[in-house]
Order: sequence, then structure tokens, then C-alpha cells
Amino acid sequence: MLVVVTGGIAAYKTAYLVRRLHEADALVDVVLTPSAEKFVGRVTFEGLTGRPARTSLWERPLDHIELGSEADLAVVAPATADFLSKMAAGGADTLAAATLLAAACPVLLCPAMNERMWEHPATRRNIETLREFGLEMVGPDRGDLAEGEIGIGRMSEPAGIMAVAGRMLEEATLRERRIVVTAGPTRAPIDPVRYIGNRSSGHMGQALAASAWRRGADVVLVSGPVARPHPYGVEVVEVETSDEMLEALSAALGSAHLLLMAAAVADFVSPSPSSSKIKKDGSGLELGLVSGPDLLKETRGIREERGVLTLGFALETDTPVENGRSKLESKKMDFVAINEVGDPAAGFDVPTNRVTLLDRWGGLEEFPVLSKEEVADRLLDRVEARLD
Ligand SMILES: Cc1cc2nc3c(=O)[nH]c(=O)nc-3n(C[C@H](O)[C@H](O)[C@H](O)COP(=O)(O)O)c2cc1C
Repeated sequence: MLVVVTGGIAAYKTAYLVRRLHEADALVDVVLTPSAEKFVGRVTFEGLTGRPARTSLWERPLDHIELGSEADLAVVAPATADFLSKMAAGGADTLAAATLLAAACPVLLCPAMNERMWEHPATRRNIETLREFGLEMVGPDRGDLAEGEIGIGRMSEPAGIMAVAGRMLEEATLRERRIVVTAGPTRAPIDPVRYIGNRSSGHMGQALAASAWRRGADVVLVSGPVARPHPYGVEVVEVETSDEMLEALSAALGSAHLLLMAAAVADFVSPSPSSSKIKKDGSGLELGLVSGPDLLKETRGIREERGVLTLGFALETDTPVENGRSKLESKKMDFVAINEVGDPAAGFDVPTNRVTLLDRWGGLEEFPVLSKEEVADRLLDRVEARLD
């Protein structure tokens, strides 16, 4: 991977980006323009990547040809107005510009500048030209700008850039597929301030949504209240109660090919939550809980009608495989991913998961303990193979 840093204030964020790419096992070469070096020194990038960072066209004569031929992807972050104009005109007077002109790999631009620079007709024209050349772009985002102004011009955050880079690198096996994912807990209100919740963090569903988006899918993520930021690129519908989740899910399923149910939907709800706060002295308070909506049951009709391939998660304590098999049948799922309760490496609120995958064709596969991201990738590999 090649990261080209140009001379904008957002160059400090590129250090985080490079660190994250390195952590994700990418082999990162960094090229800086002479202006970029005024913002962040090459030593910072050398320390982060363990590889020489380059600035000069004249240091090693073939760098400008080799760097862009060896890379899978070049990311220009930040991309200044000046650099975009140079690229649009085919300039090659710095190592950064010459390398990109000679690059054989796809290029992702991450523009960052003051809003008036971004809106200027010259920049608009350059952007249009660069898009015509087939270059991809992420951002700029709206928000606080360096000079105390608020507007459009912020470089996208490293997480967003990573997500788009991942999508560019991944084979688009789910292109033109619409995928609905549920994630997180639901809350069953007791009164206006209290609710019954659960410990779901939303991590597993988010990892599935991110993996599906990276594979080119259009993803709708129906999410209960979670503390983790939603993944980049997906359409998010935020809900709180199981009824709201059912409503959002039913609306999204109308155009879906695949449903991945990773939310921990409340099994029990209060039938008539109090409209005013229940007083502390309400001794002997009885909630009289009843079963909440069963989302798989309620959506069975639309799933069958539209042929939506369905994967659900099940948390089991006893005879997990038998219970999983009977859920496959009774809830009309195609796949069920079983977590066992009590496994400290699996389930709620931990970054890893241990899953046994059953399918309605009789398959059974036990995955080892993996990060939730790896579990998501493996599950999608299996599900994808059955999409047609
Ligand atoms: C403090 C400071 C901050 C700057 N920030 C930006 C910026 O965010 N975006 C931009 O397009 N130019 C910015 N510039 C202007 C560029 O540094 C200038 O156009 C430079 O020639 C860019 O060179 P390069 O594109 O070869 O790296 C800034 C200049 C200064 C002095």
C-alpha cells in the first residue's frame, strides 16, 4: 500500500491512518511532498511503518516508477487543493506527483481544505477531471475546519478511509446485493426513565455489516442503542424497542437478498409501561413481563415470499446443536450461528467469538475462537456461496 501525504494541516491524521494500516498488516510505503514535511516529518512515518519514507524525486532514480507499480492501492491523504490541481493537469515535478502519474494501482483521494478552496470552480473542475480519470474519493467531511470555521473540507477520519480502502481492495462479491443486518440490544421500557436491556455491544452485527459493505453490498444496519460507532458506508436505522426494530426490519426487507440477525432482541417486555416515573416507594412492584415480538417469526412471510436468505444467531446453554437445528426449522432460517453461554471468549461484550454454524442443508462447522471481524468474514464466505 502506498500512502502519499501532501501539505495540509490534516497530515497529522495521516499518521493515525498509517498506524492503523500497519496494525492491519499492510506493508505501507509513505511518500511526502516537500510541503507535507513542514507539517509532519518523515521520521514519524518511518517509525510507524519501519520502512523508509521518501520525499525526493532525485534520491533513488526509479522510486517514482517502482512505488506505484508494487502497491495494491495508493491513498492520497490529505490531498490538498494544489495537489489535486497538479494531478488533474498530469504534473510530475515531485516524487509524489510523478509516482501517482506512473501508478498502475487504483488511487483513493482524501481531500482536505478550507471550504472556499473546496467550492472554488477550479477545484470543482479538477475533481471532475480526476473522477473521469477513474480515481476514487472519500470525503471531505463537514465539521470544524482548522481556522475555527465550520463547513465542508475536513479530511475523512482514518476509520472511514480504511473502510473505503478495504472496499476497493476486496473483490466485490456482493455487488448489487442488498443486505439487512440487525445489531445491538433492544430496550423494553418500564417507565419513561427505566428499561430492561441486555449486554449486547453491537460488535458482531457491526462486523457483519462492515464485511458485507466491503464486499460491495448495499447494507442497511438496523441497530439498537450501542456505544460503538457505526461502521462506515452503511445505511443506519437506529431503534430502541423490539417493536421499533421489527418495524424497521420489515421496511428494509422489502428489497433485501440477505438478512443477518445479530441483534439481541428483548425476549420479555412489560405489557404496559408506565407513562410516569414509578415512585421509589412502589414496594412489591410487579412488572408482569410478557414475551416480546419474535422477529424471525414475524418476518417469516416476507422472507419466504422474497426468498431472503437468513442467518440468525442463537445463544444456547444446553444441547446447542440440537436446539440450533430445531430453531433452523421452526424459525425458517437457512443458517444459525450458535454461541454457547458461559464461554468467556464468546458472546456479549467481548471482542472475540466462538461460533458453530449450522445450515439447513445439514452442514455443521465449528469455528475456533476468532475476532468478531474474522467470524463475520467466515460467515459471509459461507452464506455468499448459497446466495444464488
Ligand atoms: C498552515 C497551513 C495549512 C494549510 N492547510 C492546507 C489544507 O488543509 N489544504 C490545502 O489544500 N492546502 C493547505 N495549505 C496550503 C498548502 O500547503 C500549499 O498549497 C502547498 O503548496 C501544498 O503543496 P503540496 O500539495 O505539494 O503538498 C496550508 C498551508 C499552510 C501554511
